[in-house]
Amino acid sequence: MTVETAQTVTDRLGRPLRDLRLSVIDTCNFRCPYCMPESEYPEHHDFLPASERLSFDDMIRLVQAFESLGVRKLRITGGEPLLRKHLPELIGRLRRETAIEDLALTTNGLLLKRFAQPLKAAGLDRITLSLDSLDPAIFQRMTGGRGSLEQVLEGLDAAVAAGFDAIKINVMVQRGVNDAGVLQMVEHFRHTPHVLRFIEYMDVGTENHWQAAQVVPARELLDRIAARWPLQAVEEHYRGEVAKRYQFEDGAGEIGFITSISAPFCGDCTRARISTDGRLFTCLFAQQGKDLRPWLRQTDAAALRQAIAQLWQQRGDRYSELRERLPERLPGKKIEMYQIGG
Ligand code: GTP
Ligand code: 5AD
Ligand code: SF4
Ligand code: SF4
Repeated sequence: MTVETAQTVTDRLGRPLRDLRLSVIDTCNFRCPYCMPESEYPEHHDFLPASERLSFDDMIRLVQAFESLGVRKLRITGGEPLLRKHLPELIGRLRRETAIEDLALTTNGLLLKRFAQPLKAAGLDRITLSLDSLDPAIFQRMTGGRGSLEQVLEGLDAAVAAGFDAIKINVMVQRGVNDAGVLQMVEHFRHTPHVLRFIEYMDVGTENHWQAAQVVPARELLDRIAARWPLQAVEEHYRGEVAKRYQFEDGAGEIGFITSISAPFCGDCTRARISTDGRLFTCLFAQQGKDLRPWLRQTDAAALRQAIAQLWQQRGDRYSELRERLPERLPGKKIEMYQIGG
């Protein structure tokens, strides 16, 4: 399917379907307390059995269906996607068997040293690294005692050596946990091509017992950073860009802020998410997804495409814009971050 023949589909709020985020595994080698707290997810927690995960064939068919509806941007997520066996093979197949133009992956970096080169060779375009602190003790705490800061930084170096440049580094900021280390992170990554993006702590899922008091509004961070290194706002790269971008006036590079709490961006949200077991979620905060496997089991590509188009046309999600008007505890459970990868 070429760009010209793709059918475009818009939701109830007029938003087109443009980006797909595909979770390839729901397990993780970290236990970040804000995502997968050890108390709820001990070592032998029942994650999805391998037989319940979408196969690579399923994923290719799905991506082709999304592509026929106008999607050109794909992000591979988890849990931790590098734990999925034979991931470079999937990347290679996505490159050869789909027309995705921007193929990215989000990782916690622990296994990146081993996988950076094979992923690049398979055709991966971009890597985003999650890294919340450069302080070894805080890093330990924020990964639930499972991470190794040294290994993650080696992973970043390996990614650069493999040819991934200008890597985006996601920093989830939680008040009283890692906010004091923000300037240290900025200092460390200034004068590198990498781009730090500070994410406001969000009420994703239900297991992290989110509290509004732990959110550090982006404005507060921006003011602190700009007081030390003056910043200038940068124009959006594309409509609906998630991060608000700023560059250092002294030419030392760029940073960004992801403001889902203080300045929601639902109006331009063009993202669909697929969980490891093949459910389509039209919002990061959704309570339910639609199981696409019944259509994947048929060989009729048109029926799969039609099902996705219909689900997108019914979409009216704008959770972050409505957050303040919703009850603090919703009656049902929201999907967890590690099941749809953020
Ligand atoms: P590229 O444009 O592909 O480089 O990525 P991005 O800017 O969309 O950023 P990325 O995919 O790394 O997203 C960063 C983080 O922002 C995610 O892990 C989420 O925590 C948050 N995020 C991304 N998309 C959404 C969204 O649609 N809604 C909300 N509330 N948060 C989002
Ligand atoms: N709020 C904000 N960011 C989160 N992430 C995971 N859980 C949350 C949350 N509750 C981030 C991770 C990673 C990305 C996939 O999402 O830190 O950078
Ligand atoms: Fe794993 Fe990422 Fe969740 Fe941390 S935030 S537990 S690295 S999936
Ligand atoms: Fe999109 Fe939902 Fe995030 Fe709003 S809250 S930007 S609709 S994913």
